[in-house]
Amino acid sequence: MIAVAINISHRRIEEHGVEFTSHYHPGLPTLHGDATKLRQVFSNLISNAVQATHGVENPRVSIDTMVELGQAATGIRIEICDNGTGIREEERERIFEPFFTTRSKGTGLGLAIVRRILDQHQASISIETNHPSGTCVSVVLPVTPQISRSRGEVAER
Ligand SMILES: Nc1ncnc2c1ncn2[C@@H]1O[C@H](COP(=O)(O)OP(=O)(O)OP(=O)(O)O)[C@@H](O)[C@H]1O
Ligand SMILES: [Mg+2]
Repeated sequence: MIAVAINISHRRIEEHGVEFTSHYHPGLPTLHGDATKLRQVFSNLISNAVQATHGVENPRVSIDTMVELGQAATGIRIEICDNGTGIREEERERIFEPFFTTRSKGTGLGLAIVRRILDQHQASISIETNHPSGTCVSVVLPVTPQISRSRGEVAER
């Protein structure tokens, strides 16, 4: 599922002339959830990463996927990093708000949708500064979530 999302994004990222790397371990446990919605999550996050690198020299976006052993449950961590403009401190708290955007053509709905879908999957998201510049967004999806809800939504359009 993640592999599919990453492959689609790979093409899109490189069409923008952005260098792309991904590290994906084929032995990762299967994720349960709504594939369509989760794909939308990664598509939105990757769009943001690509957009943030516009005008940057040697634009780069990377995706790393790894197992996260938590106290309560095992998760899969997906990290999307870019070397773009970064997020200003005063914007950081507002970026998940619907209609908050700093881009002239943005709706500001991307991250609001991301957060809602991740909530439905009991997943977490965190945003950090990348070094020396840019942003890293990490999503942790539980491997064994209480999936009754998300599974029921598979047929939903
Ligand atoms: N990777 C990133 N690097 C820098 N800024 C980011 C990144 N991701 C999000 N942001 C900031 O968060 C804001 C909100 O993001 P969000 O995806 O919700 O809306 P948008 O990208 O502006 O519009 P849309 O998603 O509709 O195209 C962006 O306008 C941008 O300021
Ligand atoms: Mg967006």
